[in-house]
This record gives sequence, structure tokens and C-alpha cells, in this order.
Amino acid sequence: MEISLGTPLAAGATRLLLLGAGELGKEFVIAAQRLGVETIAVDRYADAPAMQVAHRSHVIDMTDAEAILALVGRERPDFVVPEIEAIATQALAQIEERGIATVIPTARAVRLTMDREGIRRLAAEELDLRTSPYAFAGSAAELESAAANIGFPCVVKPVMSSSGKGQSLLRSHEDVVAAWEEAQSAGRVTGQRVIVEGFVDFDFEITLLTVRGSGETVFCEPIGHRQEAGDYVESWQPQPVAESTLQTAQGMARRVTDALGGRGIFGVEFFIRGQEVFFSELSPRPHDTGMVTLISQRQNEFELHLRAILGLPLDPGFRRPSASVVIRAAKVGWGPKYEGLSAALSVPESDLRLFGKPQAEKLRRLGVALASADTADEARQRAEKVASAIQVTNFAG
Ligand SMILES: Nc1ncnc2c1ncn2[C@@H]1O[C@H](COP(=O)(O)OP(=O)(O)OP(=O)(O)O)[C@@H](O)[C@H]1O
Ligand SMILES: [Mg+2]
Repeated sequence: MEISLGTPLAAGATRLLLLGAGELGKEFVIAAQRLGVETIAVDRYADAPAMQVAHRSHVIDMTDAEAILALVGRERPDFVVPEIEAIATQALAQIEERGIATVIPTARAVRLTMDREGIRRLAAEELDLRTSPYAFAGSAAELESAAANIGFPCVVKPVMSSSGKGQSLLRSHEDVVAAWEEAQSAGRVTGQRVIVEGFVDFDFEITLLTVRGSGETVFCEPIGHRQEAGDYVESWQPQPVAESTLQTAQGMARRVTDALGGRGIFGVEFFIRGQEVFFSELSPRPHDTGMVTLISQRQNEFELHLRAILGLPLDPGFRRPSASVVIRAAKVGWGPKYEGLSAALSVPESDLRLFGKPQAEKLRRLGVALASADTADEARQRAEKVASAIQVTNFAG
């Protein structure tokens, strides 16, 4: 059925409640504001980036199912849109079952992808997609034998974690105990299982933004990226990929997103080695490496997510090779201050996003530098110039 949009803050408004209000949520809310959608941003701390641009905001513990259900009961949104992984997914299942709101993309997709075991078993065992060899372990002793089976080097990650938290690269069995402890200290919940993956010596890795709309699936140009300690520091688009390899990756992305269902954008991550394509993981929402689309596409990943949710036509409209480089805090402090803006923005074809995060934590992402050029390599150099011109100073030290 064709959607009609209401007027925000009036009877009949189209309301969207965002669970997680970080930088990706901020751009998504801006996209929703442009179509007059009423936006409600939720996070566990006040003044989070998306709260600063939403119609209203609430601070709750999003791992508390009752707190989510109570809030949704009061706000009566049409759409509940998760922006982060750490959410009580039982609440989402109830919202969906009771027909209170549409969960994006679906409650099941959110549940399966917040847990590396759920999405890995779906992709590798049900859909038969190629992945790195893997095993799961629930204790240091299990990890010892799992790692020996997989072989070294291998990578250990908590099943529930993101941005590289709690991950280790193991070179020999001597690294097992430290890796287990690292995963326990950094995972989202304690006592949780880990995945052990064979290390893939890839040529490059890509994010394939895959958008499931009403009746059509569209792909964005592949995004290349570089990670440091499991966290993205730089991305560019397009990443050149051989035609047949790209078709393989697109086919895999289509199968896994079809299996998850629902509407919205998915960031599907792959490792490419020669002709081989390995499915790595997937986020059922805009992807951090996809911030490059803020400059590279006519419809960026946030606008595509919104259009898919609303069932509107999708047309990424790739414009020009582009890159993004993250701007991070060097130390902890409240109310970080940004200098060097004129030098940064005098770089040709450049742009900048400062997220407005109230607190800088060491290496926390505070902004992103963007640039376009004739080639992706030149765009990367430009974006790097923009990022390095920005100095983050902290008030509170
Ligand atoms: N099996 C592997 N072989 C080689 N490199 C790997 C492997 N697993 C992870 N990596 C590297 O670590 C990065 C982060 O891993 P992954 O995407 O699984 O974790 P994450 O914590 O979900 O990260 P993010 O939330 O930033 O996407 C990958 O993008 C890749 O560069
Ligand atoms: Mg990842």
C-alpha cells in the first residue's frame, strides 16, 4: 500500500522512534526531518548526536525490555528503527507480534545480527555462503581446542560486540588465555561466548550497501575500508572489484538479506581474496563505513534507509569517487572543541561532519572528513588532509 505522510507534531503524524542516537542516527533523523517525519531519539545518555536534531528524545536503558515497551506504548510510533546492536530484542519481538509498530527491518533480523553466532550460522549453515572457518567457545578450555581445530593465525571476538571491542588476533596457542580474558572484559555482557575465525589474508575488504525496498533490492557501489584494531578509520567508494567477483558478492548479499527480510538498508561486509568472496558479517542498518555516501551519492545511505522504510523509490545515484576519514579524540574530556576548520575546508571538494558528542573518550569518533576527486585514491588523500587539519582540544582534560 502506498504510504502517505502526515505533519509532524500534529494528529496523524508519521512517527519514527530511533533506538540509539549516535552519529549514524543523527544523519538518519536529518533525512527523516526533510520529509516531515516526526522523530523521537532514544539513547542511554542525554544530548546524544541524534537527540540534538530530533523532535523529542528520551534517555533509557535500551537493554531493558520493559523500558522499551513502556516508551513505545507512550510514543506510539509507526516505525521502531534500531541504530545500535545492544537492544533488548524480546521487546522488539513483542512490538512486532502485537502489531504496535513496524520494527526495521524485522525483530528477527535484529536479533540474529546482534549475535555473531546467529548471523554466522544463518549465512554459513543455512544459506551455504562461504565464510572463514569458525567455531564457538564458552570457556578458555573450549577456546583452546577450538583454536587448535581452526589453526593459527585466528581471530577471537565476543559474540556480542562491535567496533572491534574485545577482539584479538592469535598467533599461537600461547595467546589463547589472554584472548579469552580480553573478550570477557570487553564484550557487552560477561560470561559470553566467543567466535574463533580463521584469519583471512584478504586482498581487500568491502561493505556492500544493500537496500531492500518494497519489491526491489538495490546495491550501492562497493565501499573499500581500512580498519585499525577492528574499528574503521577510512573508507572510499568505489572500491574496484572484478565484475564476476562483484556479482558473486551481490548474489550473497541478496540471499542473506532476503533470508532476513523486512525493509531497510543493510551493510554487508565481505573479504575478497583473488576470486574468492568471504561473507564476514552484516548490519541491518546504515553502516559506519557508508558515511562516505554523504558525499559520493545523490541519495546517501541514510536517505536510502528512510526511503526503503517508507516504501519509496530507491536510486543511490553514485556521483563521484569519494572518501571518508574519521576524526577521533586523542584524550578524554567533556565538550571537545574543534580548531583548524578553515584549513580543513579549503581542501578542494571537501566537507565535514562534527557529531556534537558531548564527551570525548580516547579514540572515540567525533567527526568525519569527506572529500571527492577524479579517483578514489586522490579522494582519500584529500579526506586525510581535511581530517589532519582538524585539532580536537578538550576542555576538561
Ligand atoms: N577472520 C578475519 N580475518 C581477517 N580479518 C578479520 C577477520 N575478522 C575480522 N577481521 C578484521 O577486523 C575487522 C572488524 O571485524 P568485524 O567486522 O567482525 O568486527 P566488528 O567489531 O563488528 O566491527 P565493526 O562493528 O566496526 O564492523 C574487519 O573489518 C577486518 O578488517
Ligand atoms: Mg564489521
